[in-house]
Amino acid sequence: MNPLNSIAFRHCESQNRRHFLSRLAGGTMLFAVPGAFADALIRTPAQTEGPFYPDHLPLDTDNDLLIVNDTLTPAVGEVTWLSGRILDARAEPMRNALVEIWQCDAKGVYLHSGSANGPKRDSNFQGFGRFLTGSTGEYLFRTIRPVPYPGRAPHIHYKVKRNGKELLTTQCYIKGQPQNERDGVWKGIADPKARDSVTVDFVALKNSRAGELAARFDIVMGFTPEA
Ligand SMILES: [Fe+2]
Repeated sequence: MNPLNSIAFRHCESQNRRHFLSRLAGGTMLFAVPGAFADALIRTPAQTEGPFYPDHLPLDTDNDLLIVNDTLTPAVGEVTWLSGRILDARAEPMRNALVEIWQCDAKGVYLHSGSANGPKRDSNFQGFGRFLTGSTGEYLFRTIRPVPYPGRAPHIHYKVKRNGKELLTTQCYIKGQPQNERDGVWKGIADPKARDSVTVDFVALKNSRAGELAARFDIVMGFTPEA
């Protein structure tokens, strides 16, 4: 079985959604997305958490941000399969890493009571998701391509936790976005290689008739955990 299928299987509760996610992931080339793990091991730089880590978690915190619980209406946005690996400083996959992502919806609204335009929030967008890695260190989310909002280039926030401890807070960006050059957080990463490591391709998913995208963001932690 394609490892992505097994990942999708493990993390989707309902039978229907399990089938749906595995069908979409099956036979795709997510692992071959250009921009996958580079030769040189660049530690993923830490970046600000920002003000919008959800102050109330959604009812559903799984890895499919397009559907909240079992509602039928998906979120508005460009569907993106976001995957990658969590690696330690020796490039060994890290298991039992809890990967959390959060991002604004297609209108730039976060799942946070302090977010601008709160009443316009897309209630079908989960806004936050979690994934617990297995032995391969792989994670997978189905979400939307991030959009810009005033003052920021499109980005997705990440937190990596292990055994209840926060290990890294960072963000990833879309390669080729002109807004990146004007984004204070992105520019705040002094080392160009480190900046590149958080700036990833969002490419058309091969054989997707629905125009889905795929993006791959590997995270290299700055330490080697004890077994
Ligand atoms: Fe943000």
